[in-house]
Amino acid sequence: MREHKIEAIVHICGMAELSEEDRELVEAAKQATYNSYAPYSKFNVGAAVRLQDGTIVLGANQENAAYPSGLCAERAALFAAGAQYSNKPVVSLAIAARKGKRFLPRPISPCGACRQVISGVEERYNVPIRILLYGTEGILVSDNINPLLPLRFVDEDMNL
Ligand code: THU
Repeated sequence: MREHKIEAIVHICGMAELSEEDRELVEAAKQATYNSYAPYSKFNVGAAVRLQDGTIVLGANQENAAYPSGLCAERAALFAAGAQYSNKPVVSLAIAARKGKRFLPRPISPCGACRQVISGVEERYNVPIRILLYGTEGILVSDNINPLLPLRFVDEDMNL
């Protein structure tokens, strides 16, 4: 058996180190947490996606008494962007989470299903999506979905 090494490089930085555009996107994700409907988990997640023309689209987690019917903030934002601006590539995505009044010190990372959707949107437009995961102690930045979802299922796998 051969060993296959998978490398994942991400960056951790403070708000001041981000570009003005990225900072604006993180602020939008923080703001989006106030649109969260999370009476069951009481965990308010906000997401903001930037399209190639600069448009920002927000998403927030939306829960339902039948739990699996709810949707994460990331997919809410990405699907809203696809539904409203179907021909505009997504270039970046910021996520923030709050418990009560406090934003979390360490960033939360998208769930597996959201990672797969981020990967799908990258493939759809053939444009990498920069991912900004906000925490009050630092922001984790990834240039694309690769480090978060190595060995993922892609369109090409269906043509084998
Ligand atoms: N949630 C998100 O919206 N995004 C994530 O990255 C993780 C989890 C939501 C789903 C559910 O409404 C609540 O947070 C608790 O899991």
